Amino acid sequence: MDHEPAFFETSPKPGVVGMPLNRVDGRDKVMGKAKYSAEYPLPGLVYGVLKTSAIAKGRVQSIDTSLAMKEPGVLQILTHLNLPKLAKTPNDPEGKKAIGAPMGFLPLTSDVIYYAGQPVALVVADTFERATQAAALIRVNYAAEAPIAAYTDKRAQIFNPEKIQDGKADGYTRRGDARAALAGAPIKMTAVYTHAINHHNPMEPGATTAIWEAPDRVTVYESTQGVTRTQKALSAYLGLPQDQVRVITKFLGGGFGCKGSCWPHTVLTVQAAKMVGRPVKLVLTRPQQFTSMGHREDQTQTLTLGASKEGKLLALIHEKTSTTSPWDNYAEANSKIINLLYECPTFESHYELGRANVMTSTFTRAPGEAPGSFAIESSMDDLAYQLGIDPIEIRLRNYAEKDPSTGQPWSSKSLRQCYARGAELFGWSKRNPKAGVTKNGRLLVGYGMATASYPVHNSQGTARVRLYADGHAVVQAGATDLGTGTYTVMTQVAADSLGLAPDKIRFELGDTKLPTAPNSGGSVAAGTVSSSVYMAAQDVWERLTKMAIKDPKSPLFKAKAEDVAMENGRLQLKKDASKGEDFKALMKRAGIDDIEGSGQGKYGSGYEAGQSAANASDAHKDEAGKHSMHSFGAHFCEVQVDPDLGTVRVTRWVSVHGAGRILNAKTARSQIIGGSIFGIGAALMEATARDPHYARYTNADLGDYHIPVNADIPDMTVEFIDEHDPYINAMGVKGIGEISMVGVSAAVANAVFHATGKRVRDLPITPDKIL
Ligand code: MOS
Repeated sequence: MDHEPAFFETSPKPGVVGMPLNRVDGRDKVMGKAKYSAEYPLPGLVYGVLKTSAIAKGRVQSIDTSLAMKEPGVLQILTHLNLPKLAKTPNDPEGKKAIGAPMGFLPLTSDVIYYAGQPVALVVADTFERATQAAALIRVNYAAEAPIAAYTDKRAQIFNPEKIQDGKADGYTRRGDARAALAGAPIKMTAVYTHAINHHNPMEPGATTAIWEAPDRVTVYESTQGVTRTQKALSAYLGLPQDQVRVITKFLGGGFGCKGSCWPHTVLTVQAAKMVGRPVKLVLTRPQQFTSMGHREDQTQTLTLGASKEGKLLALIHEKTSTTSPWDNYAEANSKIINLLYECPTFESHYELGRANVMTSTFTRAPGEAPGSFAIESSMDDLAYQLGIDPIEIRLRNYAEKDPSTGQPWSSKSLRQCYARGAELFGWSKRNPKAGVTKNGRLLVGYGMATASYPVHNSQGTARVRLYADGHAVVQAGATDLGTGTYTVMTQVAADSLGLAPDKIRFELGDTKLPTAPNSGGSVAAGTVSSSVYMAAQDVWERLTKMAIKDPKSPLFKAKAEDVAMENGRLQLKKDASKGEDFKALMKRAGIDDIEGSGQGKYGSGYEAGQSAANASDAHKDEAGKHSMHSFGAHFCEVQVDPDLGTVRVTRWVSVHGAGRILNAKTARSQIIGGSIFGIGAALMEATARDPHYARYTNADLGDYHIPVNADIPDMTVEFIDEHDPYINAMGVKGIGEISMVGVSAAVANAVFHATGKRVRDLPITPDKIL
């Protein structure tokens, strides 16, 4: 870094930020006082239960609800025959989806069945049990057709989309002439990687509680990662102004991306509540969770690389084929990470989609980066073995000093330190470079590593700070806390920004009535919301400073605003700390009980807006937009493989990341552990089986969809590189929700190769693939 990062002058002085504070909401959670979206005991509350399609393709020929309607307590049954018309459906003729609508199709808007598990009815009854019983009594006659289960079906329509993710990324990318470079490369390698369908499976399933307060005013308690995005989607569906749709999410039991959008069950529950004129609550069953909120798509990646004999990359060609729904062009953008992880002069990527009778897949933790890194990080390992170069060394030989995909300099990058520190903590130097020879008794031992990276996405949000003369503050932002610590870290940021103790701060989130914050998704919440909170506190200090310098009784009377700083809740002269006063004294003299400030935190604006801009030297004000902003890290994995049973056990784990400022050492460590475990699940056990003939999931429950349990996971070592990034935002926070799982499956697969000499490129690595 060629200059001092100016934000350090303005960001909170060292205090509780970074400290391993316990969760501020932890006590409420273990006491059962934290209310999740399905836990509001509203007067007159009734229960919604979905009836879902048994077939994956065809039509509802007839639907007989007469028996179900006769059940005691049944109030209403919604079907495609009586669903009130919405102002907008996602499949409107103009083809434009509502913001936050993840699918271009809404069930119950016609008799057509596109996927198994598609809702065909929603029963509302006075108890959950009665609604469930009534749903079972609905008789549906289907005109069934043979479905297509996946892109691998020969009948599937395969095409090259111009855009994937419905317009958010290009279906084709080219940098230089990769084909020519490959032709001239001394080393050529092509490998095919497959990834199973994965489901997010948050502990708390999708849940909606809808209350109409007036014919044109609704409140929805929703299990969502973004109250504003849900509000926008619902207001479009319902044709209501946004301020007449209130969305509240105080606590979330995980999400991992599946709660990043407004899915059909939410819209249908809101409509049901309107029809019955009572609050309706709907909670997805675990099997319904598998067909209601998206998934990580089944996919094949073909990665071709050309390299010199010294292991220097010359060409990368990435091709991906994956399954999508009958209406959407959604694919995770795997190629983005492959295009920037290493210095390589040429790059080419193509996406292919195959239409099948499935719902649209969606963001799943590190969408694109997680499976993309599996391909590139496995292939780099392959290349290292082929050339007899250490896996870390080959990565250093291809170290990207700037972003190869854009040519921009990095805003910061500590990957070298991550490799070095990770290797040291792990004991990488003890590794015998030969595969298949290290043993622990009869078990084969393997060491593997992989690089991680995740972008710092563009985002912005607003926060409000209200500071009271009695020395406490209420801080608000319409953010959500997935369970990972937003309440806690924002309390810390507010405490330091205001010079107060954390217990003097009440941080409120999860309500569209609060200032708008982004989705807790794409790893943007920590950086954006913390910067908003910090900027809002700065706004408060500016207001108080103005008051002080106009107040003849203040020691700061007639001081210049730029000469005044806040230190531990005290306004004082920068040059003479003895000249100043506590904010409480100032406010009491002025006779005001509280003072409010608001601030906007943005990514890519470390030097913009408010005081952080004021403190930046002119030379650096415009630089933020010229940098490529990413986190980097490295995972190290030891496995022990049973050569007779083919079972793989992860026995040691080390992760080291450089992700800007870390707001809370404890919750950050937990994030990395959680993401790594998520990745170990994808690497070794997670797979949803979609029957090739019926296009139905055959293991849609937590008994048969295997996720890691404590016994599968060793003690994990997590460290962060002390990284100061002056460009990304006012707080210098990059976010760690998703980088935690990038590279994980490759680290495991590379360790399996080192243990066994067997390269498994099909996830998950189940025993049958080892033997
Ligand atoms: Mo994340 S997959 O952006 O919720």
